[in-house]
Amino acid sequence: MDEVSYNGKVFEIFITKDDIKAMVSRIADEINEVYQQLEEDIVLISILDGSFIFMADLVRHLNFDHQIHFVKLSSYSDTESTGEVVTILDVDKDLEGKHVIVVEDIVDTGLTIEKFYEMLKSRQPLSIRICSLLSKPEVHNDIVPIDFIGKEISPAFVIGYGLDLNGLGRNLEHIYQLKL
Ligand code: PRP
Repeated sequence: MDEVSYNGKVFEIFITKDDIKAMVSRIADEINEVYQQLEEDIVLISILDGSFIFMADLVRHLNFDHQIHFVKLSSYSDTESTGEVVTILDVDKDLEGKHVIVVEDIVDTGLTIEKFYEMLKSRQPLSIRICSLLSKPEVHNDIVPIDFIGKEISPAFVIGYGLDLNGLGRNLEHIYQLKL
């Protein structure tokens, strides 16, 4: 499908499944390079819901021992950020003395990752690095450093491969961008 439509909005294909696959593999190589020599425990934390597909694909490329964990934060209504990040499922693991990798599908305004980064710091992990499949630098202005990025994109709204419009479109195998 070159175009899809949800809630009267038309989206056109933007990043194909083959390009996503190559991006995930390249990010995993970068992460493996940094973490495979470490001796301390490593925890990957995926921020639900958007990152569930990326997380599932990513961990299957990682070649070091690690635990996985999920939290649920939410801030979007339709295509706009509400400006308020709500914690629906919090971190219930002990992170003290562990290396943490946060896995996000997208850093848009940066509010979600900024809030979560602060929450994580209070748990005293040994290190925190951020991994995001997509990033909108023109919107978030590097509010929090992102250590591993799949692709920097323009501000237009995107769906597919886990990303949604009001809960729909997460199952799309390609990533689609709102047609202007
Ligand atoms: C989306 C996305 C990120 C966040 C990024 O989540 O999955 O977590 O927005 O946007 P920000 O940088 O402007 O904070 P959303 O709040 O839509 O919840 P969802 O993952 O359940 O769709």
